[in-house]
Amino acid sequence: MPEQQAAGRHARATSNNPKHTPHHVIKFHIKNTKPSAGNTHPLLYDIQQTNHKKTGIKPKVKPILLGVNVDHVATIRQARGSNYPDPVHAALQAEMAGADGITMHLREDRRHIQDSDVERYAACAQTKLNFEMAATDEMIGLALRIKPVDVCIVPEKREELTTEGGLNVVNAENSLTPACKEFEKRNIRVSLFIDPDITQIDATKRTGATVIELHTGSYAEAQTFEAKQQELYKLTEAAAYADKQGLIVNAGHGLTRHNVAAIAAIPQIHELNIGHSLMADALFEGLPAAVRTMKSIMQQARANS
Ligand code: PXP
Repeated sequence: MPEQQAAGRHARATSNNPKHTPHHVIKFHIKNTKPSAGNTHPLLYDIQQTNHKKTGIKPKVKPILLGVNVDHVATIRQARGSNYPDPVHAALQAEMAGADGITMHLREDRRHIQDSDVERYAACAQTKLNFEMAATDEMIGLALRIKPVDVCIVPEKREELTTEGGLNVVNAENSLTPACKEFEKRNIRVSLFIDPDITQIDATKRTGATVIELHTGSYAEAQTFEAKQQELYKLTEAAAYADKQGLIVNAGHGLTRHNVAAIAAIPQIHELNIGHSLMADALFEGLPAAVRTMKSIMQQARANS
């Protein structure tokens, strides 16, 4: 698809709904209207406006983006081998309700998302595809062919229920670096999913990846107030450190409308990727309402931080 066409479709898809307050509607102080976006993907342009060091455009409040993970829609479909519900339908509904991107994790065992889901969504995405994957040759090849806006590399174990723990980038630096460099060279932004640990952040920087996604699972699962505060402190420190290193900071895992505000208030966090709790909320109130509520909690927390 020609790039201008993609950018035009994106603008049409997000501009007419007064209830929808996408990040690019937030008023900007324009210092220099000519962004130095270089070979930036058109769908990333709005998002990169948040990085005012690069663009010269300074937002009043740094927006926070919501990436919606639709894997669990596919989990329900695969449980019965039916052709419903369709994760691509969910992705398009989430976009219309204000999602800034869609995550699909194509696991090696294909337990939920299938190759055709990724291909179908990539062909009609109005926001951006964040392709979550293990760093295997098969997945790297697929990602290079599909060319998502983002890839997020995660550790994967066959027996796990969901992604457990972050990548050990320090140990895997030599094998991750060529893949990260190749993706970034081809204008596919790479994020490594890591625990909030300075040594992992330093190793990520060395791989050539430009994004980290901080694993918020320990924060979400902490059972006492003190333990939660401790996990929050680690995430806050890690986000500030990574931002200083010039990395874009995302976060996710285990976030719900009840625990998301403290994470959204961390000023360096750019995007939160949320799946399971959103789909659970959607059971009772529908996906668009669930997405709108989550985004509004995130935006309020950011505005008040
Ligand atoms: N980010 C990553 C890297 C993940 O692996 C997952 C889980 O698939 C999520 C975010 C979303 O986590 P949850 O489904 O708990 O919201």
